[in-house]
Amino acid sequence: MPPKTPNIPTDKQVALVTGGTRGIGLAITKALRAEGYKVAALYHGNETAAKNCERETEAKSFKVDVADFSACQTAVDKIEKTLGPVTILVNNAGITQDSVLHKMTPDQWHAVIETNLTSCFSLCRAVVPGMREREYGRIVNISSINGQKGQFGQTNYSAAKAGMIGFTKALALESAAKGITVNAICPGYIETEMTAAMRSDILQAIIRHIPAGRMGCTEEIAHIVTFLASEKTGFINGATISANGGQYMI
Ligand code: CAA
Repeated sequence: MPPKTPNIPTDKQVALVTGGTRGIGLAITKALRAEGYKVAALYHGNETAAKNCERETEAKSFKVDVADFSACQTAVDKIEKTLGPVTILVNNAGITQDSVLHKMTPDQWHAVIETNLTSCFSLCRAVVPGMREREYGRIVNISSINGQKGQFGQTNYSAAKAGMIGFTKALALESAAKGITVNAICPGYIETEMTAAMRSDILQAIIRHIPAGRMGCTEEIAHIVTFLASEKTGFINGATISANGGQYMI
């Protein structure tokens, strides 16, 4: 049986990218815009980055705290009124609050779990009913190598990112019959402000264990997102795609 694709031109499709104005998210916004999609780039605090992103990509930026359930619902309503129904959701927003567990505060735990994992629930909860009605959707969750293998100093982050992988698989099972794919990407260490903020001796020690001999580029992750966002990849569902320069093979 040939695949059921709605053949919606990319310029009629709306992609929502959380954390879409900086780092990996900005590269995703640019790549989706280059494919012709309309993009709603969500951001939390950095107004300058949001303005630069709008100017550079002609995406529309929306200020939202993705850790807040009702703010996510309100944002999706506003985006759908402004740009049209969301056909692609990229859950990319993520923070780190690294600490060994025996020093970690409840605030550090909750901030990372809510921003990185609960946000996936909140955004999916807001867009999935519409995708089910229209029988089409693409959801891409940006997890991490550290959700696959664990990382010293990141019980909160590793738990959130591993949670995204389980979440992806469960939602893929629920959504496949409705023309919706839900996949996860696990980037390794990528050149962003997040990795630049690490202690340089620790980062250099990690880079020594990357067989590729280098960190990844944001564009290398964005390319996988555009691949998974395409109507042509409808048979890839519940997958976890690693992009880590060979650092961890699963
Ligand atoms: N394995 C085993 N032992 C380790 C270790 C490791 N990977 N790293 C540190 N240790 C040991 C140290 O040798 C040290 O031992 P001693 O006390 O005997 O000397 C002890 O643990 C304490 O280590 P630190 O000095 O590093 O402790 P700290 O409290 O100053 O810092 C930390 C803790 C902030 C978690 C720091 O270790 C750190 O930044 N680690 C890296 C965390 C990391 O990889 N973050 C990734 C951010 S980017 C990202 O997350 C993006 C993505 O998706 C990949």
